[in-house]
Parts: sequence; C-alpha cells; structure tokens
Amino acid sequence: MNISIATVFPDLYRDFLNTSLIKRLQEKEIASYDVVSFSSFCNPKERIDAPAVGHGAGMVIRPEVVERLVDAQDKKWGKSYKIFLTPQGKKLDQTLSEQLAKIFQEQKHVMLLAGRYEGIDQRAHEEYADLEVSIGDYVLMGGDLAAMVLLEAVMRYVPGVVGKDDSVAMDSFSGTFVDFPTYATPAKDWRGHSVPEILTSGNHAALKNHRNDKAAQRSVRGHFGWVKNHCRTKEDKSLVSKHMPHHYLVLMHDNVLVQDGKIGTSSVTTLDIHDIARSCCTYGVKNYFLVTPLVDQHKIVETMLNFWHGAGIDYNRGRAQAVDLVQLSQSLDQVIADIEKKEGKKPLLVATSAKQQGDASQRITFFDQDKVWVHDRPVLLIFGTAKGLSDELINRCDFLLLPIDGFTEFNHLSVRSAAAIILDRWMGINLTEVD
Ligand SMILES: C[S@@+](CC[C@H](N)C(=O)[O-])C[C@H]1O[C@@H](n2cnc3c(N)ncnc32)[C@H](O)[C@@H]1O
Repeated sequence: MNISIATVFPDLYRDFLNTSLIKRLQEKEIASYDVVSFSSFCNPKERIDAPAVGHGAGMVIRPEVVERLVDAQDKKWGKSYKIFLTPQGKKLDQTLSEQLAKIFQEQKHVMLLAGRYEGIDQRAHEEYADLEVSIGDYVLMGGDLAAMVLLEAVMRYVPGVVGKDDSVAMDSFSGTFVDFPTYATPAKDWRGHSVPEILTSGNHAALKNHRNDKAAQRSVRGHFGWVKNHCRTKEDKSLVSKHMPHHYLVLMHDNVLVQDGKIGTSSVTTLDIHDIARSCCTYGVKNYFLVTPLVDQHKIVETMLNFWHGAGIDYNRGRAQAVDLVQLSQSLDQVIADIEKKEGKKPLLVATSAKQQGDASQRITFFDQDKVWVHDRPVLLIFGTAKGLSDELINRCDFLLLPIDGFTEFNHLSVRSAAAIILDRWMGINLTEVD
C-alpha cells in the first residue's frame, strides 16, 4: 500500500517514519510513505492559506492547493482513499482502526490530509474526503500528530506488523475490558511493589481468570462509559457486576419539602414500592429502603410486605423477589447504620433532585461514576417524595446527581420513573452479544 501524507510541515515525519514498526512496514515492503508539502503545490508568491470568509475566523488552507496536491499524488500512485484529519471527524477507536486496516490493505493508495491553521477549506472536504477522522475531543495545532496516531493505531492491525505475543485482539478497547496489568520479568519486588503470586504459579487457568478479573476491575472503575456500551457476554456482565460497588436506594418520606417550602413527611405510595423494587431488582441494587417515621405508614407498608412474603409468592414469584428488597426504616441515619453494618463501610450519599439544588462542588453527571466509585465504598442513591429532598438533607450528601433533563422545560417525573431512568443512566449496560 502507498500512503501519501499531505502536510504543511513534512519534516515532522522524518523520525516517525524511520522508527520501529512503522519503519518495519517499509522494510517488509508492506507500505511505502510519500510525505508531500502543501507548499510544493503553490505557485510562486502564492500562499497555502487565505483568510476565512466572514469576520475573524483565522486562516484556511485553500482548495486550489489541495486540488493540485491530490491530482499529483493520485496521478503518481493511483486514485486514493482520502482521509482528512479533523476534530469534527469520526472518532478513532479500536473498531475504526481495525476497519481502516482492512481499507488500507484493499486500497493501492491511501492519502492522509493533515490540516493546520483553522483547517482545510470545507469545499475541499466535500469534494475529496472519503472519511474524516478525529483522534479525540480536543484541538491540536495541526493534523500531523493525528495522522501519526492514526497510522500507529491502524498499522497494528496489518498482519505481520505486531508479533503474535502482543496479539492486538487482546488489547484494551478490543473487547469488554481494558488490558490487564503486566509486569516485566523477573517477578521480584520493586520499591515495595510486588507481582501477584498467581502469575508465577504455572496454573494457566487461574492466571487467565486473574488477568480477566483485574482487567474487569480496572475497566469498571476507570472506564465505565466504555464498559456500558461494549459489554459482550453474560460472563463479562457478571464480572462487571462483581467490580461495581454495592448500590442501595432509599426513598425518603421524611425530611422532604412540603407546602410553602416547609420540611415535613409524605405518605407512602404502593405503586412506588412495587415499581422501584422491580427497577432495583433489575439493576442489582442490594436493598431499597423506605424511610418514614410515621407508625401508621409503617403498618400500611408492613401489610403489603407481609402479603408478598406469604400468599404473594405464589401469585407472582418475580414480584415477590423484587419486593423482598424493600426494607422499612425510621430515618436516613438508620439506613446508613444498616448499610455500614452489612458492608463494613459507611455508604457514600448520592442525592437526586429535579431542580438545581446543593453546592456546585457536590454536583456530578451521569458520566461521573469514576468520581464516586474510586472511594471503594457502598453507594446510597437518595430519592425524595413530595416536593423533593430538603436542602438540609442534600447538604449532608457527598454528591448530587444533576436533574434528569430532556428537551422541554418539563421534568416533573414520578419518583418511580425518575428512579428507573437514573438507575439505567448510572448503572445500565448494553449487552452487545445477546444469545
Ligand atoms: C487548530 S486545528 C483547527 C481547529 C478547528 N478550528 C476546530 O475547532 O475544529 C488545525 C488542524 O489540526 C488538526 N486537528 C486538530 N485537532 C484534531 C483532532 N482532535 N483530530 C484530528 N485532527 C485534528 C486538523 O487537521 C485541523 O484542520
């Protein structure tokens, strides 16, 4: 395959193309590189770039210069598959890298176009780009490092480039999990850090399990966004669940805002008890606590729970299983004490609210699992009733999840709907290979 690289700064590529595996590709005659400067396609006294149309938008690489470069390279190596490097392009990941490796091998000629300044003229993108690629959600000074990153990621998938021992199929972001921790031989302690004994035990099955387990642990705690959308098998799903901190949910019928901004109590709702219990059961929440200090309310809930612990089992076994998670409590402090007794650690308190409340330092989004899970403590998700949790209660919490938002001003969801949405956004995963 012939790879043309169009750039403003060709010198940047000299060492890169003459080092390690990228160099080896040329030696093995798998790839040849042709780095060309946009300036070589400018007429005397002509500039590569011109001011952007419209006020104050910087300089843009001119389409006529791109045209001459593209025509010359296509004439030299044959019609190319053209990839424009741009922050607005398709995000490069392992899947795209693998797909591009196939395209690179099928095509006689691939061209990478690296922009500078404010980028390459949009008309040239429209005319020539077969694909636009971004290497991440940040802006570089130019597309040259992006072109090099793309080459490094893609070429690893070309057969014969990477040795068998470093199998790319096992790499981070190739499956559900990132890579497991690796250690260089000999397996001795270094600066107080040791190598897990299992790695030198010679027990291959145990070693494989250990590595898988460590990979799952790192992935869940540090890359849940990835795991959420790339969980492949049921086995992976159970490893994910193993490494998620235990979650609990509490529905507060006390310490909530009632009429005129006063703090008070609210009545229990049987629908909420059933439906939130079923959501909790789906997402593996350990217990669903109902907090009310009112004796009469306790009696109502106990009657219902007694039904599901008795006759209800035969009536609807699944529902009985879900309702089994429900635990009545007098206060939030009692709930915290119960969890601490069970887990040996106090839970982190994560409040929820339909409106902007709390302190900015408490606020987290539905993508901030790592901020919470890094503490390695159980998590208690707190839901309010009536007009929501009191400020006093929210101020006690370690974190406050941002309100659920859609595309209207309306977000007055029932607490059972809010609980289902929040559990899914926070803990839900999409199993990609359903059997
Ligand atoms: C300063 S940037 C232009 C940024 C542009 N104004 C924007 O906000 O999208 C100049 C060039 O760097 C390259 N570049 C910058 N960030 C990139 C990224 N994340 N992925 C791929 N190319 C990038 C592109 O080739 C781009 O044309």
